[in-house]
Amino acid sequence: MSGPGADEGLSVQVTGLVKTYSPGAQVLRAVDGVDLDVAAGEFVALTGPSGSGKSTLLHLIGALDRPDAGTITVGSINVTALQRRRLPDYRRRVGFVFQRYHLLPALTALDNVLAPALPRRPGREQQALARELLGQVGLGGREDALPSRLSGGQQQRVAIARALFQRPGLLLADEPTGNLDQHTGQQVLSLLTQLRSERGTTILLVTHDQSVAEQADRAVQLVDGKVQERLAHDQNVAEQADRAVQLVDGRVQERLAHDSPSTSPDTDNFERVNDADGAAGWSGGAGPEAPAPGPLASRWRSS
Ligand SMILES: Nc1ncnc2c1ncn2[C@@H]1O[C@H](COP(=O)(O)OP(=O)(O)OP(=O)(O)O)[C@@H](O)[C@H]1O
Ligand SMILES: [Mg+2]
Repeated sequence: MSGPGADEGLSVQVTGLVKTYSPGAQVLRAVDGVDLDVAAGEFVALTGPSGSGKSTLLHLIGALDRPDAGTITVGSINVTALQRRRLPDYRRRVGFVFQRYHLLPALTALDNVLAPALPRRPGREQQALARELLGQVGLGGREDALPSRLSGGQQQRVAIARALFQRPGLLLADEPTGNLDQHTGQQVLSLLTQLRSERGTTILLVTHDQSVAEQADRAVQLVDGKVQERLAHDQNVAEQADRAVQLVDGRVQERLAHDSPSTSPDTDNFERVNDADGAAGWSGGAGPEAPAPGPLASRWRSS
């Protein structure tokens, strides 16, 4: 196991990233010049239509695939310059939840969570941690089930537990709540936000679900492989508007610089987004259905 001193959050810097595929004669730019900065400990939602390059971008950041151009820096690691023999080390610092789970079919749920520890034989403490994580994603009692005996949503939760097992400094999660009912999805999300607030884990999470994206610090939208816009909580966005209006408890609180009598659709949008934030009352901690308080980190340490 990584031990109690496992990673704090890792920052992510992506510059000019390009990934092309050539299925047949044409060249497809799946990721087409993406620049993205994620601060250590930030929770960023990655949204966008199907085929817009979200999974490809996540795979590149996780060093599961190589870009054609551009650079990726995670913490102090220049991922794009890593030698092949250094990749396993890097991947151990990054938790990855795949869109299609990728569980090992011959291993039980428990052994799938323990898989990152292989080939070493997992110790008692690691076993306890794996069991605890399965319990936290609602799969206590299903430790011995093979993936073929689990529903899609249950397999997804095993994959989430596996990604958290190494206490990653960066969690890359590709639609981790996509197959879960709303209640279970919210529980998983609360677990992730709790992890972020207690361990400073950086989270980059792909979602099609607006209510999930709204619980992130900000959302980045990909369209045709390009970053389209940033929404919510982003002061830079506010500064680029003609004016920004802040709502607190449903009332206009203050008007910021750039004040002009004109109203643009963007400005309208910003007002609406802030309104939604205010209503949600979310301020970087766990979501509205957060589990009872109790330090996850210390529970992990004591297990
Ligand atoms: N291995 C591959 N070979 C050829 N084309 C690929 C490959 N992987 C992805 N693509 C193409 O790259 C584009 C981006 O795919 P990607 O899987 O990143 O989209 P996505 O935004 O994750 O979509 P979804 O929301 O449906 O998961 C798509 O047009 C897809 O067909
Ligand atoms: Mg995808």
